[in-house]
Amino acid sequence: MASHLVVRACPPFRVPGAAGDPGVAAAAPELERDARSLLDGAELDRARAMTARTREDFLGGRLAQRRFAADLLGVPTSDLTAWYSCPRCGTGANISHGRPGYLLRGHAAPLLLSLSRASGWTLLAGVVAPEPGQRLGIDVEDPARADFVGFDDVVLTVAEQRHLAGLHGTSLLRGRARLWARKEAWLKMVGTGLQTAPDSLDVLGPHVDGHAGLRDLLPEESGLPAELVAAVAVVVLP
Ligand SMILES: CC(C)(COP(=O)(O)OP(=O)(O)OC[C@H]1O[C@@H](n2cnc3c(N)ncnc32)[C@H](O)[C@@H]1OP(=O)(O)O)[C@@H](O)C(=O)NCCC(=O)NCCS
Repeated sequence: MASHLVVRACPPFRVPGAAGDPGVAAAAPELERDARSLLDGAELDRARAMTARTREDFLGGRLAQRRFAADLLGVPTSDLTAWYSCPRCGTGANISHGRPGYLLRGHAAPLLLSLSRASGWTLLAGVVAPEPGQRLGIDVEDPARADFVGFDDVVLTVAEQRHLAGLHGTSLLRGRARLWARKEAWLKMVGTGLQTAPDSLDVLGPHVDGHAGLRDLLPEESGLPAELVAAVAVVVLP
């Protein structure tokens, strides 16, 4: 076991947007079968309320995360119990949202995890045997999703808005998505998510900081396609 960061990008199990593709019909039953045999009750309950496409993304991500965690720990997936932490609702087997984690044969697994989904891809990060106080957050964004009026006002600080001023088209969308990914990675690391207003967090700077431990993930490290952008935060809190 090692306490370094491991990142895994999991490709879509179906072609995004390809409703009616024969591959979709074949993938979904296999996914449902794996989910029923490998996921826990609270995860399946949460999936039950979802529409088909969201449900597929959710189940695919949770299965990928469980297999990733089992690989990192060197244990069978069946030894793991999902153990999520929500800043509002608490921690336990009945919590289906919030910061991911697992019990390993009834005890907290020595593993930090973070997950993000975009455009059918699931991006996973893990640190085995973390240092005391160590925290992890990861995020992937599709720049096409940053193409809406009001993005800058809701998401960016004044300094960040100035930083993107003058950019247009693809460059602007990639610039927005880059900052958005950094913010979500940071806020997942902290554990508050978007309960913290994103326009209160500045993620500009020569090393993406004052936030030591926050950095962009390039495709050669993440394994994601080049059109997506990603960031990771690995921090030891005092
Ligand atoms: C965390 C958050 C920023 C993720 O944003 P997103 O772009 O919608 O989704 P992503 O695909 O990037 O990430 C989703 C993953 O973030 C993780 N996550 C959710 N809340 C988290 C938290 N508080 N801390 C760390 N990670 C968290 C989960 O692994 C989730 O995966 P899941 O869908 O399998 O449960 C956003 O969902 C959020 O702020 N959630 C918290 C809101 C909250 O606390 N609500 C109160 C509920 S009672």
